[in-house]
Amino acid sequence: MASTMPAPSQVGNSAFNVRPFLTDHEGHETDILRRTRRSPEQFVRPTSLPQETGKGETIITNDGNTMLKSMSVMHPAAKMLVDLAQAQDIEAGDGTTSVVVIAGSLLGAAEKLLSKGIHPTVISEAFQRAAAKAVEILHDMSIPINLSDRATLLKAATTSLSSKIVSQEPKLAPMAVDSVLKTIDPKTAENVDLNNIRILKKIGGTIDDSEIIDGLVLQQPVVKSGGGPTRMEKAKIGLIQFQLSPPKPDMENQIVVNDYRQMDKILKEERTYLLNMVKKIKKAKCNVLFIQKSILRDAVNDLSLHFLAKLNIMCVQNIERDEVEFICKSTGCKPIADIDSFTEDKLGSADLIEEDNNLGARFVKVTGMRLPSANPSPSAPVSGQGASKTATVSLVVRGANQLILDEAERSLHDAHCVIRCLVKKRAMVAGGGAPEIEVAHQLTNLSRTLTGTEAICFKAFADALEVVPSTLAENAGLNSIRVVTDLRYRHGLGDKNAGVSVRGGGVKNDIREENVLQPLLVSTSAIELASECVKMLLRIDDIALSR
Ligand SMILES: Nc1ncnc2c1ncn2[C@@H]1O[C@H](COP(=O)(O)OP(=O)(O)OP(=O)(O)O)[C@@H](O)[C@H]1O
Ligand SMILES: [Mg+2]
Repeated sequence: MASTMPAPSQVGNSAFNVRPFLTDHEGHETDILRRTRRSPEQFVRPTSLPQETGKGETIITNDGNTMLKSMSVMHPAAKMLVDLAQAQDIEAGDGTTSVVVIAGSLLGAAEKLLSKGIHPTVISEAFQRAAAKAVEILHDMSIPINLSDRATLLKAATTSLSSKIVSQEPKLAPMAVDSVLKTIDPKTAENVDLNNIRILKKIGGTIDDSEIIDGLVLQQPVVKSGGGPTRMEKAKIGLIQFQLSPPKPDMENQIVVNDYRQMDKILKEERTYLLNMVKKIKKAKCNVLFIQKSILRDAVNDLSLHFLAKLNIMCVQNIERDEVEFICKSTGCKPIADIDSFTEDKLGSADLIEEDNNLGARFVKVTGMRLPSANPSPSAPVSGQGASKTATVSLVVRGANQLILDEAERSLHDAHCVIRCLVKKRAMVAGGGAPEIEVAHQLTNLSRTLTGTEAICFKAFADALEVVPSTLAENAGLNSIRVVTDLRYRHGLGDKNAGVSVRGGGVKNDIREENVLQPLLVSTSAIELASECVKMLLRIDDIALSR
């Protein structure tokens, strides 16, 4: 596309135009421009407006990615911004609002450069180089951290939660940090598998009543109708994918029995069939049975429940298919597809399984699992005393209604991702717009040493990054022009960590004193992804609708 473009001197907005993305056919602003302009207003807002999704459900959120995902976006360029937020969510998990705000600001800067007659290829290449330089600057100003320093991790989690609706809840940040630390070995870990952390949402109580459980929590209650046990110590867990009920005939078949003796025989058969199954389960030394949900047959019937109760086997039914992997990972069991392969080696174990009834919500807690270490080191024995503790954690989140519970889950996800970022790249930078203004300051200095269009593009890139501190100041009720000018002055004097103090209501020379710290990876990936997206947008000439 770039090769078909006219020479730079002739390039104006008519030849290459970002306006197709920014205005519609009648010249009105399209979603992309309006939204990127509007999103800064929602940045670090203490509360967010409820939003109705296309499916007619209402969500309350402050999470940039969730907001963009639930908007019905038609314009292809706006869709790229939605994808951008999603890419940041995958890469870093936090900073999804920042990335779109920065991309919006860079697009605005690019538009001005285009109107000066600078070729889009020149702009996009200069922006790419400026972004690479920005990442270098961020690396230089970052502070290395140690994963065993829980207090520092807590500061990062608190900063990420501070802009959320649930920011007033003191329990969430420690829960997020501890849950991640429980699933990894801080000395050797290079990544965190967030699938090892399960969040269970239960209406009732307040977020303060939420708890972290070292093990597995199931929201299905124990089946009590047969009179079986509801508490089991030294549990041997079997997870079955077949049912303890008589087989049904095929859909279209019917069996008509009109003889009582035949009827009796069928009932006897059913009894023997079920009894044999339950006996086999008992013989494998299983005392807790988890049954996967089936839409075709009942998991249990009265008779099988009666047998299970007689043989003192606890039963939990309706285990969802997507829970199977987590249960297996937590307890060490293997799913069993039919009764003939029900053997002892497929069972998991736990010290205690009991039903908990807390603030009106019933759930089953499985605790005290010991699994062989995932990465056994030669010095650590694999079994017995040396076996590592389970690598999964469950969080039971309580709240007054579903909307708050959903937002608490999203906020916890952000906090988990922040800790994951720190595991991946063990460095932090100050928050409150300090990294962006420092990058802007150094890029401006650099642009003075450059010549021609490159210098103009570097300066425009630097100015565009000031959108972050400026928006933070605006949302904190401060005069954004005064704050940004003050920040420029302080960074000019060498105060690299001077940032916007939302709590203090002004500029602070070292924002780290307010414990506002964020992972380096969040900041670097926001700048990299935003400039990458702008580069792609700049390289598109026009939109042609396909059939
Ligand atoms: N207490 C605070 N004081 C000053 N700045 C803060 C404070 N807490 C957070 N920030 C800043 O707010 C910005 C993050 O805001 P926010 O969490 O709303 O958006 P995001 O992280 O970009 O996106 P999202 O959280 O929706 O994925 C960061 O620049 C961070 O440094
Ligand atoms: Mg955030």
